[in-house]
Amino acid sequence: MNPVKIGVIGYGYWGPNLTRNFVELPKSELVAVADMKEERLQQVKRLYPQVQTVRDYRDLFAMGLDAVVVATPPATHYAIARDCLEHGLHVLVEKPLTIRAQDAEDLIEVAETNGLTLMVGNTFEYNAAVQALKQIIDAGELGEIYYINAVRTNLGLYQPNVNAMWDLAPHDLSILFYLLGKEPTSVSAMGGASVFKHIHDVVYMHLKFGDNLLAHIHVSWLDPNKVRRITVVGSKKMAVYDDVENLEKIKIFDKGVDAPPYTDSFGEFQCSYRYGNIVVPHIQFVEPLRVECDHFINCILTGEVPRSNGLVGLRIVKVLEAASQSLHNNGQPYPIQPPPARSWRIVSPRQGVSVVNHTSQTAPLS
Ligand SMILES: NC(=O)c1ccc[n+]([C@@H]2O[C@H](COP(=O)([O-])OP(=O)(O)OC[C@H]3O[C@@H](n4cnc5c(N)ncnc54)[C@H](O)[C@@H]3O)[C@@H](O)[C@H]2O)c1
Repeated sequence: MNPVKIGVIGYGYWGPNLTRNFVELPKSELVAVADMKEERLQQVKRLYPQVQTVRDYRDLFAMGLDAVVVATPPATHYAIARDCLEHGLHVLVEKPLTIRAQDAEDLIEVAETNGLTLMVGNTFEYNAAVQALKQIIDAGELGEIYYINAVRTNLGLYQPNVNAMWDLAPHDLSILFYLLGKEPTSVSAMGGASVFKHIHDVVYMHLKFGDNLLAHIHVSWLDPNKVRRITVVGSKKMAVYDDVENLEKIKIFDKGVDAPPYTDSFGEFQCSYRYGNIVVPHIQFVEPLRVECDHFINCILTGEVPRSNGLVGLRIVKVLEAASQSLHNNGQPYPIQPPPARSWRIVSPRQGVSVVNHTSQTAPLS
């Protein structure tokens, strides 16, 4: 089987990680890297002399590629991804898919019309610890999920054209959607713009998922500590996923509180608190980006719908759009209309056409 020929567009902070993976994966051949900045391309030439470099990504269209990866700033994703799809290339776009929901819808449409794979780089969906946490939740080990608290803070890295929410919250939203298998019914957001008066560098998002399930996301570029932590509190147990931890990424706490039966007086009011063992499951960790890149290649080869497909990307952009409105309206809650479930017609250039009914973002990973 011939390797899938790939071009990477954008070789800034994140592009080099994608480039390295597509160079190393046996089923892909990294043919070229495009970046507007010559000094970034010099770096590519030093590391990978066999890879072609171009300043205008449109030069990739004459190179016989199968697919591209778009790792440019979010505001540029839509125009570049659309151009590439229209030129018959499968596209992996970094998160967030676009900065407007209607652009994300359009990309899905163009990919579908041209029978091409559209995938968004929701790296955490390919993270073994997140997958383990999902298995724990799905197995009912935590009981009914009461709430989830996600914290993603650090000092920087400030981005010029997006705020901290658009930069960081796509990760937490993709994790929440993946873990819960559903999307929120409403969102509200409050935040502060401290260093640059027009860019929010700290945001608190509050999401309702129906059935009394709540989630809270705290993102910040202005914090002394690097924190990447998700706490899931259930009726039976509680779990903490700490991505900064090297070995003990997930801890399951056998802790909980049972309300007393009805009492007439405060004196009889006694909750029963449970303090049990803390279990640390073993997780076989593989670089999540490697799994993601490999999945993209497999989807191109087989016609399988990507786990983090365009619809998943669209759902996230819809929440971010509603949260942005809330952020500028004193935290007023905004409803979220889910995109309709739909059928996908994916054409694999190698294996013909396959039609996939896709109603959930938790498609199994090949
Ligand atoms: N999945 C993850 O964990 C993860 C982590 C970091 C960043 N990202 C995402 O990756 C994308 C890039 O982020 P970054 O931090 O690398 O940004 P960056 O600003 O460091 O790099 C972007 C690069 O794109 C180039 N570029 C811009 N417009 C271009 C164009 N039209 N043609 C060719 N090159 C162009 C720039 O010259 C720059 O080198 C963003 O969407 C970001 O959200 C994802």
